[in-house]
Amino acid sequence: MRTMKLGTSTLEVPVLAVGCMRINSLSKTEAERFVQTSLEAGANFFDHADIYGGGKCEEIFADAIHMNDDIREKIILQSKCGIRQGQFDFSKEHILDSVDKILQRLRTDYLDILLLHRPDALVEPEEVAEAFDKLESSGKVRHFGVSNQNPLQIQLLKKVVKQPIVANQLQLSITNANMISNGINVNMVNDSAINRDGSILDFCRLHDITIQPWSPFQYGFFEGVFLGSDKFPELNAQIDEVAAKYGVSNTTIAIAWLLRHPANMQPVTGTTSVDRILDCIKASEIRLTREEWYAIYRSAGNILP
Ligand SMILES: NC(=O)c1ccc[n+]([C@@H]2O[C@H](COP(=O)([O-])OP(=O)(O)OC[C@H]3O[C@@H](n4cnc5c(N)ncnc54)[C@H](OP(=O)(O)O)[C@@H]3O)[C@@H](O)[C@H]2O)c1
Repeated sequence: MRTMKLGTSTLEVPVLAVGCMRINSLSKTEAERFVQTSLEAGANFFDHADIYGGGKCEEIFADAIHMNDDIREKIILQSKCGIRQGQFDFSKEHILDSVDKILQRLRTDYLDILLLHRPDALVEPEEVAEAFDKLESSGKVRHFGVSNQNPLQIQLLKKVVKQPIVANQLQLSITNANMISNGINVNMVNDSAINRDGSILDFCRLHDITIQPWSPFQYGFFEGVFLGSDKFPELNAQIDEVAAKYGVSNTTIAIAWLLRHPANMQPVTGTTSVDRILDCIKASEIRLTREEWYAIYRSAGNILP
């Protein structure tokens, strides 16, 4: 699988991350087959969070990958913390405690990347900085990033956090593409022009922060999969046409569309199907033309001014 550098770091990562939020829906044997197949196909970057399955997903993963020192060196592990029942929590104490528990569940001594999951209104950047320093100096976390953050929130952290922010995980798919469309519709009197994210796409490109699009197949907030949905007839017809041209599935094209963007994004898939993860991985070999990219963009109802 094609690889790239994560953010400004020297860490070489596959262009696709395997999201593990839904692996608690699998049996032990299915989970083993899923993670082992991904690994064999070169998808060795796994995305977790302490809250997935209430911690179960990390445990299931450690079993399924047959975690030991040898395997650990072959995989890249990312997890997230900061979401608690009824609140967000970026306090030093919570970050440190969460990482210890994540490491226990994943049966490892270190995370390659830790992301702060969702902005905490009560964030005190000095506390985050202290937590990151401690995690870095103890060797528990090697790289740091954020998720669902806008440019000013990242700047606020950067005022005191000295480690580079290497990634920002954000919701993005062909049908959830406001971060792209607000840049196309600057200053227009239409809904696509509404800038909901403070121009996060350009900010991340300017600062070499890797965007990790989450829910690459969902429309709305986990409302369903747009592929094959009768809510998106034009989009599906367009994707199917491009898929037929390349001799691949519609799943492959939906990921290839994200990979074609020059921001060098790293989509985080959520499938738990072996066939579908292999289709997602295939996308790293396909480079859509400019015409195909825009045709798919427009067919989802995204307008050009
Ligand atoms: N940072 C954040 O705030 C945040 C939020 C949500 C998720 N995430 C991360 O992002 C990852 C992806 O999120 P997601 O699971 O919502 O993403 P997704 O890949 O858009 O959705 C995957 C779900 O769609 C289903 N699906 C049905 N048909 C499909 C098709 N043709 N192609 C692909 N999937 C199809 C999958 O079922 P099958 O399993 O049967 O394929 C699975 O249940 C998560 O695992 C997690 O790591 C991060």
